[in-house]
Amino acid sequence: MTEGTAAQTKTFSERADELEHEQIAALDPIPSKSVIYLSGERDPTAPMPPGPQAPGQYFLMGHDKRLRRLPDRPTLLDFFQHRFFPATHVLQSARLARLAGHPEKIVLACLLHDIAIMGFIRCDHGYWAAEMVAPYVDEEISWAIRAHQVLRFFPDPAAGYEYPEQYIRLFGEGYRPEPYIGRAYEKLRNHKWYMTARLITVNDIYSFDRNVKPVLEDFTDIIGRHFRQPEEGLGFDDSPAAHIWRTINWPTRFL
Ligand SMILES: [Fe+2]
Ligand SMILES: [Fe+2]
Repeated sequence: MTEGTAAQTKTFSERADELEHEQIAALDPIPSKSVIYLSGERDPTAPMPPGPQAPGQYFLMGHDKRLRRLPDRPTLLDFFQHRFFPATHVLQSARLARLAGHPEKIVLACLLHDIAIMGFIRCDHGYWAAEMVAPYVDEEISWAIRAHQVLRFFPDPAAGYEYPEQYIRLFGEGYRPEPYIGRAYEKLRNHKWYMTARLITVNDIYSFDRNVKPVLEDFTDIIGRHFRQPEEGLGFDDSPAAHIWRTINWPTRFL
């Protein structure tokens, strides 16, 4: 299983609610709740409430002071430290891959496979994460991160991957993946990079040991060798993924 913790999302939203009234009172800019809205924390059938805009008060169009501030040219490490923290699950996953002796690109794929959940959005997180990293890593890595979204649902005992028992607890005995997921799997299973993606799932499922706490510094060397950090900073390099990094940086901008 994958997927960070609900507590991370909750922490953000709780912090937002706690401090919102203080900001209004201080005439600070009003942050948008669009990310919370997308995460299903609002009833999408209810009309958007009007902003409690007081005279002289404006909507937020930049940094949200409730969040950790990223540098002007943020790196992947900055995003890990300020948005994806504590990132324990992916750090454990990358650690397992390294202990198993897999190549560095597999270790990096494991390290990045769930960053969309940790910093952006849960639904279809493998596809989002693949888009986020595609401009900066070997194509095989982003392909594999994308594919892990689908492969998780299909066992491959020869590779050491069974259907996760946790999915039965989470989704029920009767859950079956949607047909589009099955079609995607048929295409993936004979792909030349199938095993790269499969190894993400193999190192993923066992990566929830609370007693193992690897740190980001364990992987800075691999990131340095395999992640092409843009000079302008993630979000500001005009890449096809820049908008996603900007949204993670400034998730409550009004527009
Ligand atoms: Fe995962
Ligand atoms: Fe995942």
